Amino acid sequence: MAYNLLKGKRGIIFGALDENSIAWKTALKCHEEGAQFVLTNAPIAMRMGKINELAKVCNAEVIPADATSVEDLENLVNKSMEVLGGKLDFILHSIGMSPNVRKGKAYNDLNYDWYLKSIDISGISFHKVLQTADKLDAMNEWGSILALSYIAAQRTFPDYSDMAQAKAVLESIARSYGYFFAKKNKVRVNTISQSPTKTTAGTGVGGFDVFYDYADKMSPLGNASAEDCANYIAVMFSDFTRMVTMQNLMHDGGFSSSGITEEIVKELTK
Ligand SMILES: NC(=O)c1ccc[n+]([C@@H]2O[C@H](COP(=O)([O-])OP(=O)(O)OC[C@H]3O[C@@H](n4cnc5c(N)ncnc54)[C@H](O)[C@@H]3O)[C@@H](O)[C@H]2O)c1
Repeated sequence: MAYNLLKGKRGIIFGALDENSIAWKTALKCHEEGAQFVLTNAPIAMRMGKINELAKVCNAEVIPADATSVEDLENLVNKSMEVLGGKLDFILHSIGMSPNVRKGKAYNDLNYDWYLKSIDISGISFHKVLQTADKLDAMNEWGSILALSYIAAQRTFPDYSDMAQAKAVLESIARSYGYFFAKKNKVRVNTISQSPTKTTAGTGVGGFDVFYDYADKMSPLGNASAEDCANYIAVMFSDFTRMVTMQNLMHDGGFSSSGITEEIVKELTK
């Protein structure tokens, strides 16, 4: 059921790679809720061509941008305002990639060039998006900007490797830039810390299936799905959450507040 939560709002959605992507589900939800938006992804990810299927359904334009390139981001933000006919009300940063994780490098054997890449792509790119939107004065008052994080920013998950630092940087940027954007024109900046989700980025982490099941059993509500995440994002883009800013918002079925659950006890007493 649609509620017209985002009627008349304009935005940019980064990171829809395929139908499993959290950004893909978010685009469908935002479209259903009445928003108009531009879809973007790294030029290399466009080669799959999948994003055009989504664009058709959502009546959206696709503008490629490598989120680590300020030049690409300036072009994206300027063109988006042109295409959408005005300033933006929301941006979703749904981007994550670690060459170390992808190439199976353990945390105690990191390649440092790749380490910097992980932090640039998955963390600092959020600052680049924020600063570009800020300098181009692209956000409307009471706009909402979100990035997606994971609890490995606070707790150790060995296979998450250098992405843990990238997520810590990401969450810290939301707090720091949230201050400046609130003061500038009441724009809020938050991160959503999502449960493990079966996507390309998620399943690329070693031992994913085990920690997906573990998180599911450790969460009183079970793991939050990508669709649940899309619903939460739509609410965070809506006018019902205007005073929420500079937060890392847990969207994890209760995982982060649980010490142990009956399901885990049962599993360990087998
Ligand atoms: N899947 C999970 O378990 C999980 C859990 C918590 C948080 N997250 C976060 O959610 C976000 C979305 O990931 P997902 O799970 O939907 O996976 P996904 O693989 O579908 O999306 C990741 C996206 O990042 C894009 N990307 C990579 N490098 C880029 C660059 N240089 N410029 C622009 N885009 C680039 C990819 O093309 C892809 O579309 C990520 O930040 C991820 O860390 C995922």
